[in-house]
Amino acid sequence: MTSIQLETPVTGKYTQPTGLFINNEFVKGKKGQEFEVINPATEKVTCKVHEATEEDVDIAVAAARKAFQPGSEWRTMATADRGKLLLKLAELFEKNAEMLAAVEALDNGKSISMARGDIGACIGCIRYYAGWADKIHGKVITTAEGSFNYTKREPIGVCGQIIPWNFPLLMWAWKIAPALACGCTLVLKTAEQTPLSGLVAASLVKEAGFPPGVVNVLSGFGKTAGAAIASHMDIDKVAFTGSTLVGRTIMKAAASSNLKKVTLELGGKSPNIVFEDADIDEAISWVNFGIFYNHGQCCCAGSRIYVQESIYDKFVARFKERAEQNIVGDPFHEKTFQGPQVSQLQYDRIMDYIKIGKEEGATVETGGERHGDVGYFIKPTIFSNVKNDMKIMQEEIFGPVCAIAKFKDADDVLEIANDTTYGLAAAVHTKNLNTAIKVSDNLKAGTVWVNSYNLLHWSLPFGGFRQSGIGRELGKAALENYTQIKTVAINMKGAMF
Ligand code: NAI
Ligand code: MG
Repeated sequence: MTSIQLETPVTGKYTQPTGLFINNEFVKGKKGQEFEVINPATEKVTCKVHEATEEDVDIAVAAARKAFQPGSEWRTMATADRGKLLLKLAELFEKNAEMLAAVEALDNGKSISMARGDIGACIGCIRYYAGWADKIHGKVITTAEGSFNYTKREPIGVCGQIIPWNFPLLMWAWKIAPALACGCTLVLKTAEQTPLSGLVAASLVKEAGFPPGVVNVLSGFGKTAGAAIASHMDIDKVAFTGSTLVGRTIMKAAASSNLKKVTLELGGKSPNIVFEDADIDEAISWVNFGIFYNHGQCCCAGSRIYVQESIYDKFVARFKERAEQNIVGDPFHEKTFQGPQVSQLQYDRIMDYIKIGKEEGATVETGGERHGDVGYFIKPTIFSNVKNDMKIMQEEIFGPVCAIAKFKDADDVLEIANDTTYGLAAAVHTKNLNTAIKVSDNLKAGTVWVNSYNLLHWSLPFGGFRQSGIGRELGKAALENYTQIKTVAINMKGAMF
């Protein structure tokens, strides 16, 4: 059996594929192993899915390699037709949007309203890259009379893609769409906590009409299937989103196998800076959204909040009030803002950090404990009076927990905001244009939001400075990850030596 009937309050019954998606078919793993998928809101088993091990990775890579062979249907397809297939996939996402959102809420625990937002962003991303498919080209470069040189952007080949559980389907779309627009084939491994939406989406890949082997989607664990992808000798490129720790492992595996190309989108500890001249109500809304959106399980979460000293007390009091209004609970209630953390392990990690914060002497303004009796729910938690060298100010917590401290002026805040090993994102809230530009210029971060937070868009490059990653996703920048330049230099002058 490679599918099962599941039910959500939004969709009623639906068919959930549970097999490995290889060559456009759902199949069992070679070892016949399955693993449990847990509903984080109830802690109950939703279903079991088939598990990919090393052997299945080999089979999927062979399928992707075959689909990438010169002369294959995929390689000979007109670029515009590649774009059409992506448009068809976007259309199928749109048609099934409510179901995809429900599966995401069931699997990850995010609220249904936020899940709908994710699906909208998937559709935007897939359409955006559909548009790129027939616009990827090289250059003619003149060097001297009698020579003719041109470059081409060729698809890089078979791609391995390893994604996390915080935005299961959005990360699927960010990885798959640019790879396909560029003409690559791929083997994508979903996170073991959240395999369901990626499999439903895989069935849409088949329905859209992509040739077999172009897209392969595996459910499996990091240490087995993930490691097999990172060290595979026949994968040309690996793209990873997840922890900095595993990012290092992937880079090492790539280096010691076939030197496959590597892009990494890793952790963060992003500063969110509020100046005294900011609109305080708007700033509080963005700060609240910056840290508590997706239960704080965002690589770019605004988890370090720096507030100018003259407004600090007022800000903390009002932010606390705002955070306490966030509705925490059942992901399927329309008004829920924050659902459960994804797993018992993540719940425990976060509760440990809360304990450490208390021991380090920071003040709990609100939260600091679990919510309810069942499910991995944690109350929105604000720590004030946090020193820059405290663990809760330096380490990624990846939960609904933020640390607040005060600052004097722009120079002061830049020094403390940049005092981190990460560099994914940052934000500045001010009405002064000069302050906004000066601070943005000097923040060591791949994205800086001004008077907002978390406003990602498929046309804007996203990625990390420092230990937050290598390479950029989204926008035109992502095309560089999935193509390589070939230079053709033609001599038209006969023998020169
Ligand atoms: P992780 O980095 O272990 O998992 C992410 C993905 O990598 C999953 O698909 C996993 O199966 C895979 N993976 C794990 N070990 C691997 C290995 N040795 N080789 C190849 N693939 C491997 O993240 P985890 O353990 O789920 O979460 C730990 C922390 O990582 C979180 O608390 C958070 O701080 C950070 N994280 C950051 C994310 C981001 O968006 N940048 C997403 C998820 C986690
Ligand atoms: Mg891990």
